[in-house]
Amino acid sequence: MANGVERGQWKSKLGFILAASGSAIGLGNIVFFSANAYKYGAGAFYLPYLIALMVIGIPVMILELGLGHSQKAAFPEALGRIAGKRGEFTGWWALINAGFITMYYITILGWVLGMFIGSFGELWKASVAVPAFGFSEGDLPNPYAYFFNMLASWKTVLFVVIVWIANIISISGGTRTIERVVKVSVPLMWLFMIILIIRGVTLPNGIEGIYLLFTPHFDVIKNIEVWQGAFSQMFFTLSLGFGIMATYASYLPEKSDQTGNGLMIAFMNCGFEFIAGLAIFSLLFTFAIVPKASTLSMMFFVVPQGIAEFPGISMIIFGLMFFFLLFIAGLTSSISLVEALISAVIDKFNVPRRQVLIPAVILGSLGSILFALPMVVDSGLNSDGTLGLTLLDLTDHWAFSYGLMIMGLIECVLIGWVFGAENIREHLNANSPIQIHWTFNWLIKLVIPGIILFVLGFSIWGEYQNGLYGHDFVVENLAVANILHVLVFLGWLIIPIVGAAVLTSLKAGKEAT
Ligand code: PHE
Repeated sequence: MANGVERGQWKSKLGFILAASGSAIGLGNIVFFSANAYKYGAGAFYLPYLIALMVIGIPVMILELGLGHSQKAAFPEALGRIAGKRGEFTGWWALINAGFITMYYITILGWVLGMFIGSFGELWKASVAVPAFGFSEGDLPNPYAYFFNMLASWKTVLFVVIVWIANIISISGGTRTIERVVKVSVPLMWLFMIILIIRGVTLPNGIEGIYLLFTPHFDVIKNIEVWQGAFSQMFFTLSLGFGIMATYASYLPEKSDQTGNGLMIAFMNCGFEFIAGLAIFSLLFTFAIVPKASTLSMMFFVVPQGIAEFPGISMIIFGLMFFFLLFIAGLTSSISLVEALISAVIDKFNVPRRQVLIPAVILGSLGSILFALPMVVDSGLNSDGTLGLTLLDLTDHWAFSYGLMIMGLIECVLIGWVFGAENIREHLNANSPIQIHWTFNWLIKLVIPGIILFVLGFSIWGEYQNGLYGHDFVVENLAVANILHVLVFLGWLIIPIVGAAVLTSLKAGKEAT
C-alpha cells in the first residue's frame, strides 16, 4: 500500500463475490439483454453472445481482477504502476467516461424509483392524459402515460437525489458498508427473479416466448451489427473496461484466486441474464407485446404493460416486485461505479473517505439532474421527448458504445504488451488451482484487441456514412438538436482527455498521519 489511508479489505470471500456479482448484475441483465436479444432477432443473439463471453468476457474479467489484485490499487494507480504516466492517464480517462455512465445510470434508477412508487396504485389506473405531450385520456396504456407524466415533471430531480444519497451511504464505510448492502440485496435479487420466471413460464403460452428466445437464426450471424451488439453488451454486463473489477479485487487478501473468482462472477452474471430473458420473453409472448427496440421502453412500458394484464392484486404485487428488483440490481451496480471513482481519488490524494463523500454527492446529483431535466423538446415523441432524455441518449451513444470498447482495447494493449501478459498470467496461476494456458497471452495481446479494433472500425465507418450518430433523431427544434449532438460529442471527446491530463499531472497526496 503506497499511502497511509486505510484501503479496507473484504471480510469474507462471499462478501467479495456478492459485491462483484452485484456490480455485474444490473439493469444490463434484466432489460438491456432482452431488448438487445429482441432487437437482433432473439435466437440470433445468443450464439454471438456466448462466443463473446468465452473469447472476450471471461479473459478480460480475469485480467482486470488480476490487475487490481496484483497492484493493490484503484484503476489509475494500478495502471500507472504497470505503464507509468500514460497508464495513469488511461485510468483516469476510463473513470471520467465511467462518471458519465454513472450519472445517467443513476437517473434511470431515479425513474425506476418513481415507477416503483407508482406500482402501489397510480400505475395501474385507467389511462390518464399526458398534457406535456398532447395525449388525451385513453390515448396511451396507463404505464406509458404515467411514465411520460413523470418524465415531464420535476419530481424526477428529487428521485435522482435520493438515489445518489443511497449510493453515498452504501459506500460511506468502504468495503464494510458495501458488504452489508450486497448481503441483503443480491440474494433478494435472485429470489425475486426466480419468482418472476415461475410466473412467466406458467403463463398460458409463456413457454412459446422461451422457444422464440432459444431458436437459433444462423443467417443473422453474418450481420456485423449483431456481433457489435453482443460485444458491447458483454463489456457492459460484466462491468468491464472501467476498472470496477480491478478496484474490487484490490480489496482482496494476498492469497486469493482471481481465475476462480472471475469464472464464478462471469457465470453468475450470465446465468442471471439468461433467466431474466426467460421471464421477460415469456411475458412478452403471452401478452403479444412487441417492444420497440429501445431498452428504456422495455423496462418502463413493455414489461409493466404485461404486468398490467395480471388479475387483481397480483398486478400490484408483481409490479412492485419488478421495480424493486430493478432498483436493487441497479443500486448494487451504481455503488460499484461510484466506489471505483471515489477509491481512485482516495488512492491518489490520500484524503480520508468521508471528505470525498459530500463533494461526490453534490457533483454526482448535479450531473444526474441534467439527464432528468423535464423540459419537453419533442412533444410529438418522435424521438426522446425531454431534454434530459435526449442528453442521455446522446451521451450513452458515446460513453457506452465507444468508451467501454476503447478502454477494453487500451487495457489489453497496456497489460498485454507494456506490463506483459505473461506477468499477469504468472500472478494468476500462482494463486489458483486452475492454471491458465499460455495461449491466454496471445488472446490478450492480439486476438481481443484485433476483434475490438474491427468492431470499433465498423462503428466509426457507420458514423461516417450516416452522419454523426445516424439515428432517427427527429425533434421539433432541429437547431437545438443539432447543437446538442455536437456539444455532447465534443464534451465526450474533450472532458475525459483534459480531465485525465489534469488529474495525472496533479501531485499525489502525502501519506496521511
Ligand atoms: N454491469 C452493470 C449492468 O449490467 C452495469 C455496469 C457497467 C456497472 C459498467 C459498472 C460498470 O447493469
